[in-house]
Amino acid sequence: MTSTAAVLPDPDQIAALRAFAERLARSAGALVRDGRPDRVDVAATKSSEVDPVTAMDLASEAHLRALIAEHRPQDGILGEEDGLLPGSSGLTWVLDPIDGTVNYLYGIPAYAISVGLVAGEPDPAHWTPVAGAVHAVSSGVTYTAGHGLGATRDGQPLRVNAARPLATSLVGTGFGYTVERRTAQARVLAELLPRVRDIRRIGSAALDLCRIAEGSLDVYFERGLNPWDLAAGQLIVREAGGVVTGLRGAAAGLAMTVAGPARTVDELSDALAGWHADQDG
Ligand code: IPD
Repeated sequence: MTSTAAVLPDPDQIAALRAFAERLARSAGALVRDGRPDRVDVAATKSSEVDPVTAMDLASEAHLRALIAEHRPQDGILGEEDGLLPGSSGLTWVLDPIDGTVNYLYGIPAYAISVGLVAGEPDPAHWTPVAGAVHAVSSGVTYTAGHGLGATRDGQPLRVNAARPLATSLVGTGFGYTVERRTAQARVLAELLPRVRDIRRIGSAALDLCRIAEGSLDVYFERGLNPWDLAAGQLIVREAGGVVTGLRGAAAGLAMTVAGPARTVDELSDALAGWHADQDG
């Protein structure tokens, strides 16, 4: 990882970067939508045999990288499929070319292009999110945010739900791809399910975070999120008035991410910490 100081662009620049993030996400979205074959094949697998990569994940990321290289060659790029290309501007584009690849594979509509821009190290523990866009490919809905500029869904301002007790909250979550991780997640789920309104596993972390921002989920948690799952959605939640955090004062990231209105996040975080939900053992 590079070690660059987090210098934030000014608000006009942030607005322009947000517009570029949206353009990137929509452009890759058009590629993914128009190029989807009737039956999608797995091109490769990653962390386990149920963690797929399709040809379209690779094509979408290559498309995003080419547009960034053309218009912002000084910026770094961190993408799910091709890793880190360091830049010189102190800004890094953090890309999930298809978030919700399993849904894409099966033709379930919840998949999205996630384009985040961060200042400083491209690591959730150290970065400052600058701008982001999440484009839901099937519906065409686009969520955006700019640091200090608010969050929108197709141009309309977003606000998280008012905090409510966990007992009446609709909770979003997701699962990892390895047996060890899922065994630990099943243990946490068994504790949580009797204590909440209900649980949804939608299959795209970026869209889960956008649902928090628009209020179609109350609170969300997941262990195992990568930077590209988080970069855009984290800013969209924060700019919609929510918090995105880890457990015990840690930043959101791989160990645990909890997102929603502050008081509900606090209640859920305390419960998750008590169940050691940020550990696989
Ligand atoms: C996955 C999705 C899923 C989440 C996983 C992610 P991908 O991303 O966001 O909802 O539960 O943790 O890896 O692999 O489809 O880009």
